[in-house]
Amino acid sequence: MWGGRFAEGPSAIMREINASIPFDKALWREDIAGSRAHVAMLAQQGIVSEADATAIDEGLQQVAAEYERDGVPEDWDLEDIHMTAEARLTEIVGPAAGRLHTARSRNDQVATDFRMWVRSAMQRSIASIDALLSALVGRAEEHADSIMPGFTHLQTAQPVTLGHHLLAYFEMLIRDRSRFADALVRMDECPLGSAALAGTGFDIDRDMTANALGFAMPTRNSLDAVSDRDFALDYLMAASQCSLHLSRLAEEFIIWASQPFGFVKLPDTLSTGSSIMPQKRNPDAAELVRGHAGRIIGCATSLMITMKGLPLAYSKDMQNDKPPVFEAAGLLDLSLAAMAGMVADSRFETARMRQAAEAGHATATDLADWLVRQADIPFREAHHITGAAVKLADEKGVALDGLSIGDLKAIDARIDERVFDALSVDASVAARASYGGTAPVRVREQVAAAKKRLGLE
Ligand code: ARG
Repeated sequence: MWGGRFAEGPSAIMREINASIPFDKALWREDIAGSRAHVAMLAQQGIVSEADATAIDEGLQQVAAEYERDGVPEDWDLEDIHMTAEARLTEIVGPAAGRLHTARSRNDQVATDFRMWVRSAMQRSIASIDALLSALVGRAEEHADSIMPGFTHLQTAQPVTLGHHLLAYFEMLIRDRSRFADALVRMDECPLGSAALAGTGFDIDRDMTANALGFAMPTRNSLDAVSDRDFALDYLMAASQCSLHLSRLAEEFIIWASQPFGFVKLPDTLSTGSSIMPQKRNPDAAELVRGHAGRIIGCATSLMITMKGLPLAYSKDMQNDKPPVFEAAGLLDLSLAAMAGMVADSRFETARMRQAAEAGHATATDLADWLVRQADIPFREAHHITGAAVKLADEKGVALDGLSIGDLKAIDARIDERVFDALSVDASVAARASYGGTAPVRVREQVAAAKKRLGLE
């Protein structure tokens, strides 16, 4: 393709280090679409004849059909998907195929192809997040009243409702969704026609190609257009943050599924057994989601480090942009699907959760709050009195509401029978009805709001 000024061909090492076809063949659909839009524009502008353009377009469709049927051949001499597709086009169409590359460079070509690929990946992420969000809302509605221990430091803190806990992940994931949606708006400009770096002397119509390829407008600066990979970084950062949330959710399922917790039974379809220990049900899918987050963050780091310090415009380092994006996209797609299945199909052991909430003196704050409200005791003093009650309950091996009124009065004479109304886990969650709180009434409101936000009703 560029042999004119060279006396010798590339060495074996040069061919190998240069070849991106092993991975960038994933761009073949975008590459053909970009070429078809480009040649249609060249014909409209009278830069190539209608006859040549038609032959080229038909040839490109044939190449696409071959790739669809047989896959993309990997010939290192052809370096990348752009040269591979053009070489095959030349075999089909003959020398007229050489007119396709008029007013274009691989630099704007790859920037365009890759942008389109990343755009699809973002749209896929949004659709997968939507599926997970619906699963979360569905289960939250079902469990608006199910009581479980809420934790801080993984120590029992206060009772919460499972619905409230699941909706916490709804909030994280809807923020992730907005990051992808926001990135889609920002990337909605087409680099094609920027040529190698400086634009072109041909009278091209960049609005036409931008429009044909589904972009709102052409990019405004050719130097930026061929050297910008912000769209890929936006994708990787949004994917990283999303994977952090998925990893936290996966970690909760791993903990909840452990025997000492027993809060959840994971679906058979997302668990594995052990070859030696017959009793085992391992949460491998959740563990891999947790593990994949690390790899996705590694991919984001990889592209950031590739891009830092590159002078304008294109440098070959940028060919390394694709593997981390492809890798992260595969991992994120799988992680989102696995967590949607886990949320939708797990069985929550609500009796066990409730028992755990009752066991850990999770209503101690409610006793302190009661002392403040009913006996007008300053909170710090109430905290101290409650601490003595917890200590006594521990000594007697009972829950707080298992202490007798005599026991409680001995700790502080201002306590009376009414306190028992405040000490149950049900009373505790019902009381936390502040906006955004865990009370079933608030959770139901948030479920309704969540459905609206998802456009489910
Ligand atoms: N395969 C290259 C890439 O992925 C595009 C080729 C640009 N090559 C060049 N020598 N300017 O970045």
